[in-house]
Amino acid sequence: MDSGLLTSYGPVDGIPELRALVGGLFGVGAESVVITSGGSEALHLALLCLTDPGESIQLPRPAFPGFRQLAQLAGLLVTRYDVPTQAVEHAPALHDGIAVVCTPHNPLGTVTSRGSVGVPGRRVIWDVSHALVYGDNMAEFCRGLQDPDVVIFSFSKLLRVPGARIGCLVAKSQELIGAVNAVKTHMSMSASMPSQLIALRLLSDPATPDALYKRHEELSGLRTLLTQAVTGRTGLSVAAGLAGTHLYCESPRGDDPWQVLKDRGLVGLPGYVFDSAVPGVRLCFAQEPGLIRQVMERLV
Ligand SMILES: Cc1ncc(COP(=O)(O)O)c(C=O)c1O
Repeated sequence: MDSGLLTSYGPVDGIPELRALVGGLFGVGAESVVITSGGSEALHLALLCLTDPGESIQLPRPAFPGFRQLAQLAGLLVTRYDVPTQAVEHAPALHDGIAVVCTPHNPLGTVTSRGSVGVPGRRVIWDVSHALVYGDNMAEFCRGLQDPDVVIFSFSKLLRVPGARIGCLVAKSQELIGAVNAVKTHMSMSASMPSQLIALRLLSDPATPDALYKRHEELSGLRTLLTQAVTGRTGLSVAAGLAGTHLYCESPRGDDPWQVLKDRGLVGLPGYVFDSAVPGVRLCFAQEPGLIRQVMERLV
């Protein structure tokens, strides 16, 4: 490894070639992209730079717990909007002010189109960490992004490199990008340089898009199979979501879905998973197909 990578700080907003490549995926110029230390840092920066302490913020429920934890750390007052478990698409009714929308939603897999909530003056942090960002998906999504809107993304899921800690923040407003870079200087400075090179190598590999599409299809198949197995053999209801890599299960009978699965030798997160209103279980199916088959055998 080039020792210069480790003996100096990198550019705060990221390696220019990587920003340009990522900008291409999101349909924006490199100047609208900041490479971050994972999706978590992108989320933290967005919350710090788009809000004032004491402001209220609307967060989805259930949702990735980092939303609430980082919003509270930023001194924000958290209010909730419910994401229905049995919808594949959801247009949340958001108040003026600031909100986080997660699409595809973790853990429900629900999708929200940008146009369905984009009202001028409302600030939205779009967390698209579970999206397949190849093809025109994200460029289409980002077309017409409003000035105060921010898109955050984690490469942990797409490239399957959570340990590399690579993510990004995308915004059209150069004032906002300036503020993000100023704050980031005192957080991670630059995202890890070796990790950025790993992301650059993976994203510039011509074989990557095909490999990702193939995996996307494989995951859709696993979602269908596992949904059928869980609903057919346990009586639990499974969120109807379309995308992402999780199955969220609740019990319509009111018993504990965690116990129902545990009795069959399957363990997910117990309790009020991701701040949900009732006890649920989140199963991750981003696993080898052989493991999913074993799970299905246990459900028989
Ligand atoms: C919706 C969502 N946003 C952000 C993150 C954080 O991503 P990272 O692991 O890259 O920090 C996660 C991680 O699971 C997530 O599910």
